[in-house]
Amino acid sequence: MSRVALPQYLESAAVTPELQTVLLGLATVSADISKALAKGALADILGAAGAENVQGEDQKKLDVIANDMIKDALAALPAVRGLASEEEAEVVPCHTDGRYLVTFDPLDGSSNIDINSMVGTIFSVLPHAGEAPVTEQDFLQPGRHQQAAGYVLYGPSVMLVLSTGNGVVMFTLDQDTGSYLLTEAEVVIPVEAKEFSINMSNQRHWAAPMQSYIADLISGKDGPRSKDFNMRWVAAMVADVHRILCRGGLFTYPWDSRKPDQAGKLRLMYEANPMGFLVEQAGGEIWTPDGKILDIQPDHIHQRVPVILGAANEVALCVDYHQR
Ligand code: F6P
Ligand code: MN
Repeated sequence: MSRVALPQYLESAAVTPELQTVLLGLATVSADISKALAKGALADILGAAGAENVQGEDQKKLDVIANDMIKDALAALPAVRGLASEEEAEVVPCHTDGRYLVTFDPLDGSSNIDINSMVGTIFSVLPHAGEAPVTEQDFLQPGRHQQAAGYVLYGPSVMLVLSTGNGVVMFTLDQDTGSYLLTEAEVVIPVEAKEFSINMSNQRHWAAPMQSYIADLISGKDGPRSKDFNMRWVAAMVADVHRILCRGGLFTYPWDSRKPDQAGKLRLMYEANPMGFLVEQAGGEIWTPDGKILDIQPDHIHQRVPVILGAANEVALCVDYHQR
């Protein structure tokens, strides 16, 4: 069976030639990252890097390796004006006449690295909006402005999931040829959910509305929802969102009373916004308890946000518990 390869898809999707170079550059470097991941302990790349990132999280060796690989690949592209990464404290200026800004989480779910479980790369492409040289201010655009967003899931197979604003498509990496081939042309999240995804161990720390929403899901057929729900938690946003794009459900990472001044755990500009772009393009919704995430005007590249995403009706109901 002959399948559409990523370059062909991008041409037919009427993506600007400059944006094509960015997306193809990300695809190529992700295939290289997947090879490094596959070597694992044999290449002595597992474990801690011995430093903290700007988020105060311990960096893994592979966080640093993946960050450097993506940074180098993007910086080589004339279309990239600047980049911002979870692993970089400041924005990184690139080409003064580049058309695009790229934000990324080089290795999402990195606590999974040492247990040989799923991780991913998340990326978001914004139009350039300022004068050269690039500043953090130029990046602070609502998620609605994204020109493209997606992720690469390093799982049993390596998949690139992408939207350029015209639906969501999935590609699978052919390890023999190194090309990404189209394997799902129209991703749709069903409006109703049968499955939810949350780190249940934090239950006692959530705000009261989230506690009662989840309690009602768990009470199943005997509770107010009159329906049983299944639960899954991979602890890598990429993998949990991938499941939702494949078979539906709701994912949330809520505010937590242990860090009352922190809005949530997930980062707006390289986790919530790109995933939100995909989820909305697949017919789902992504909200905080107060409003749609893609409408948020960011005030910091490393800003955090509470996230409720997935099946449209289920997200609406969860938000409703908070707004009642
Ligand atoms: O990037 C943050 C992250 O690793 C997400 O990928 C994931 O959804 C979440 O944190 C896991 O959090 P926890 O450690 O609470 O399971
Ligand atoms: Mn992450």
